[in-house]
Amino acid sequence: VREASVPYIEWDTSLSVGVDELDQQHRHFMQVLNYLHDRLLRAPGHELLEARRLTIEGLQEYVDEHFAAEERYMHHIGYPDLPRHRRLHEEFTARVRGFRSAMEGAGQLLSSELMKELLTWFHQHLTTEDRKYRQYAASRPQNAT
Ligand SMILES: [Fe+2]
Ligand SMILES: [Fe+2]
Repeated sequence: VREASVPYIEWDTSLSVGVDELDQQHRHFMQVLNYLHDRLLRAPGHELLEARRLTIEGLQEYVDEHFAAEERYMHHIGYPDLPRHRRLHEEFTARVRGFRSAMEGAGQLLSSELMKELLTWFHQHLTTEDRKYRQYAASRPQNAT
């Protein structure tokens, strides 16, 4: 029996950062994680390898595109904490790169450890760091995007 302790995550409006493009990317990332979770619970072993490969590739695309878009937006609104936020993105990007090469090298089976780490990082980052630039944008005098 595979571990079933990782919950699905659901989008709700409290997770919005106030920018449609970035919200869409966050939702996409949730879909990738939920897909992986579903495969983890249901798929036979050979499908797990494939699911994990697709997920890691999807994830890498996500980090590259999403982080770039988010950093452009933060720059655009003059967000003062951008250097630190960018550093957090870079650390996560390096983790994903590490996952990918470990997976390609060893062909390991999907683990729920990976799921937990991704979910935990994503949820924490979204509800703390990404929320901060939303609050900053909302508090600016001109309140423009
Ligand atoms: Fe971010
Ligand atoms: Fe984000």
